[in-house]
Amino acid sequence: MPDLFTPLQVGALTLPNRILMAPLTRCRADADHVPSAIMAEHYAQRASGGLIIAEATMAMEGNSSFWMEPGIYSDAQVKGWKAVTDAVHAKGGRIFLQIWHGGRACHPLLNGGAQPVAPSALPIVGDEVHTPEGKKPYVTPRELRDDEIPGIIAGFKKAAENAKAAGFDGVEVHGANGYLLDEFLRDGANKRTDPYGGPIENRARLLLEVTAAVCEVWGSDRVGVRISPLNSYNSMIDSDPVGLTTYVATKLSELKIAYLHLMRADFFQAQSGDVVTPARAAFKGVLITNMGYTAEEATKAIADGIVDAIAFGTSFLANPDLPARIKAGAPLNAPNPATFYSPGPVGYTDYPTMS
Ligand code: PHB
Repeated sequence: MPDLFTPLQVGALTLPNRILMAPLTRCRADADHVPSAIMAEHYAQRASGGLIIAEATMAMEGNSSFWMEPGIYSDAQVKGWKAVTDAVHAKGGRIFLQIWHGGRACHPLLNGGAQPVAPSALPIVGDEVHTPEGKKPYVTPRELRDDEIPGIIAGFKKAAENAKAAGFDGVEVHGANGYLLDEFLRDGANKRTDPYGGPIENRARLLLEVTAAVCEVWGSDRVGVRISPLNSYNSMIDSDPVGLTTYVATKLSELKIAYLHLMRADFFQAQSGDVVTPARAAFKGVLITNMGYTAEEATKAIADGIVDAIAFGTSFLANPDLPARIKAGAPLNAPNPATFYSPGPVGYTDYPTMS
């Protein structure tokens, strides 16, 4: 029976273990969205993960949803990321880049005053975004025009090309957590009446077109996609998360992507249900799940054949040597949420390894 330490073929890559590092927004780039030297150190410290999926990174200029988040659209950003991928590879690791568009989570104060775009003019409510002028409520986005959609797809494709130039091993398309592609997927945020709105076959169109474009750059065996059909974060809801999961997983399976990365639950536990079973049934490639797994539960899910690998988020942040700790049955450092988004090395590169 496979366990967390059984090697796994993921598309073109052979992973030495199934303990993956989930993408984690940590806001340690600079104001021009250029990755910093401590980012290279941070990721290299975690190179023993089966695969690092680096944090959500702006595919295109002008759609920042986090202050100091990285981008992959300028030469300086590509150079900054090259230092990251070189550092990870020098430690024997593998690293994908997660590429995104923040959609309605973008804020004018982060984007030169520009109003964010989304499938429909519906804002995120009940939460605030961190800007250079402090915490601000989200604003109402502008509905994306049909004639702007090809530019979004082209932007993701260009980001995929840039990720290649930066030395990544592949890319993950961010279709989760209430950002642009997820806003199209879920009917609580997408009220369009054009070919990109209405039934799930239409709402999934943008994610599938973006993924196909990215596969043209990388080959499908170096592309993953992340979705979160149950997550209510960013005011997201859908009337049929299981139907959405089944349709998207079926279509991504046809594209033969390397993996589907499924967030199994809701950050806020407001929505519940089982999306893992329908994803497993519909998707023929590698299934990665994430959110709140202990090593014991992860081991059992893999042994039972429910999933192939698990992505660990905050536990990988707090434990740079997570695979070694799990193998040794050693205690884990606790993550410190106060330093998740703070600048500098504290809570970023100073979590200790086992003594
Ligand atoms: C977050 O930092 O809150 C965050 C960022 C990207 C995600 C989800 C959550 O996909």
